[in-house]
Amino acid sequence: MALQVTNPPMSLPDFLAMRDFIYARTGIYFAEAKQYFLENRLARRLVGVNIKTYQGYLELLQGPMGKEELKQLFIEITTNETSFWRNPPQIEAFQRIVLPEAIALAKAKGSSKLRIWSAACSSGEEPYTLAMICAEAKDTLLKGMLVEIIATDISEKVLAQAKEGIYGSYTLRNLTGPQLKQHFNLLSQDCYEVKPELKQLVSLKLVNLVEYSAYKALGSFEVIFCRNVLIYFDEAVKIKVLRGFHEQLQPKGFLLVGHSESIHSFNIGFELMHFTKAMGYRKRD
Ligand SMILES: C[S@@+](CC[C@H](N)C(=O)[O-])C[C@H]1O[C@@H](n2cnc3c(N)ncnc32)[C@H](O)[C@@H]1O
Repeated sequence: MALQVTNPPMSLPDFLAMRDFIYARTGIYFAEAKQYFLENRLARRLVGVNIKTYQGYLELLQGPMGKEELKQLFIEITTNETSFWRNPPQIEAFQRIVLPEAIALAKAKGSSKLRIWSAACSSGEEPYTLAMICAEAKDTLLKGMLVEIIATDISEKVLAQAKEGIYGSYTLRNLTGPQLKQHFNLLSQDCYEVKPELKQLVSLKLVNLVEYSAYKALGSFEVIFCRNVLIYFDEAVKIKVLRGFHEQLQPKGFLLVGHSESIHSFNIGFELMHFTKAMGYRKRD
């Protein structure tokens, strides 16, 4: 018989205190309507650390043992939904328009390396999609060029999944049969492993996007993908993240955000690009 776990109720003051703490550490903002969601996610951690109240859990996070538990908190509260070739019109615009122009940018500054940042990469589907596209262009557009895809996330759990690189058919649903055959080894029914040639293009790193000073160490990029995470941030955090991206992009570099994440109201040095059924941004120099 399954063990029934009775969760302590989360009071409004508990919720507000946790919400403010999470916002300060991650930029993720939980509106009041999300109290139930947060309560559900955190109830699991209370059981995990054997603490009876949310106040006690917050004290643990703020205390000397807080750093380790913070990693678990990030795993619990993040939404990691993703898939290969997500938002096909934007991925196709990357393949047809952004990639050739980004290569030209790198060459114009005398570099033989193209650098792409997949910021908030979740379990790896996005950076491996970009790696597939680059691998397919290695003897044409990218001849004589190296490619480095830096893929970052706040959750150690999804980064471990990305490192493993093993996926089921649901997340691969947008790929064609030939793409699957070219880039994956079939391990067993419904279990596909990314080929080593793709893995070697992708470097995975733990980066919290609200630790803005960490961006510099990643170096500069011709292209930044940051899709489907800005929606969790409020305006103040979005502006700081976008400023950070602006600094890390080469002049005329590209920023691709999620399809519901228009950033042009912030007007901080990007111009809008229209693609077929998709949008992107380009750094003004
Ligand atoms: C919905 S997924 C998006 C994945 C991928 N970019 C895509 O569009 O398919 C959002 C990701 O953002 C990550 N995330 C949330 N807050 C973050 C932060 N402050 N720093 C870095 N990553 C964060 C989550 O862990 C999650 O994996």
